[in-house]
Amino acid sequence: MKVIKTIKDMQALVQQLRRDGQSIGFVPTMGFLHEGHCSLMQRARKENDVVVLSIFVNPTQFGPNEDFDTYPRDFERDEQIALKEGVDYLFYPSVEEMYKENPSVSISVINRVDVLCGAKRAGHFDGVATILTKLFHIVSPHRAYFGKKDAQQVAVVHGLIKDFNFPVELVAIDTVREEDGLAKSSRNVYLTEAERTQAPVLYKSLRQAVEKINQGETNPDRLKEIISANIQAYTSAEIDYVEVYSYPELQPVTTVTGQVILAVAVQFSKARLIDNLIIEV
Ligand code: PAJ
Repeated sequence: MKVIKTIKDMQALVQQLRRDGQSIGFVPTMGFLHEGHCSLMQRARKENDVVVLSIFVNPTQFGPNEDFDTYPRDFERDEQIALKEGVDYLFYPSVEEMYKENPSVSISVINRVDVLCGAKRAGHFDGVATILTKLFHIVSPHRAYFGKKDAQQVAVVHGLIKDFNFPVELVAIDTVREEDGLAKSSRNVYLTEAERTQAPVLYKSLRQAVEKINQGETNPDRLKEIISANIQAYTSAEIDYVEVYSYPELQPVTTVTGQVILAVAVQFSKARLIDNLIIEV
């Protein structure tokens, strides 16, 4: 595995790979890798000749009061994991390499960002779309791998690829969970011991709501009540949102039908956690 730190080297390399007829699978991450990231790398490994992993904690997708400075980082550990997963090239640029001073253009996402995390994290998806545009131009992948844990991100990236005509196939991967159901996340390390025992309630309450749907419940407000009541009763977290939307459109629904997403975000003392279930009714 080769670690590449400059845009120029990365571009020269993928141009050669493409000339040689190699297919390129790309897994963009912010590092502090866990099994969720690994399942993306494994899928990319299966489907492509070459796998490129990027590790870049992207400052433009963090709000002024968010955790950019304290976001967990451990490059040496990540390097070992990437090596084990069969990554060929690890793109690991500095902030200065990716963002020169006085930029002229940034990307603004105009659809599906007034809901869920987009509504709570102003500018977040603009930063995600901007960095992914840059990374797609730098890595020129045939396929790019994203986790459904960040379901709104998948929807936004789908729009980015379609609207800007990136010749990239988006592959969305199921959420990888701990044994007790908690979705794997780099931010789980922020949980206190007590919070860690409470955190699986997010997934459990989503499952309970799905069970209600299976029993015939179609009222989204009733489902939201079930989820919220559970989180309030069994965790110390503050609810950021509990929503039921159509997916991937992310439009409010009056009755639960078709493909819908049940999504939650909560704030524990330090960790902001999100989770969702996408189901076909
Ligand atoms: P990051 O949070 O590091 O996540 C990288 C990728 O791993 C994302 O596509 C995310 O959805 C996926 N992922 C995270 N936890 C997962 C889990 N438990 N199961 C399956 N997949 C999981 O998302 C980002 O970074 C950034 O926004 C990025 C796309 C890299 C742009 O900066």
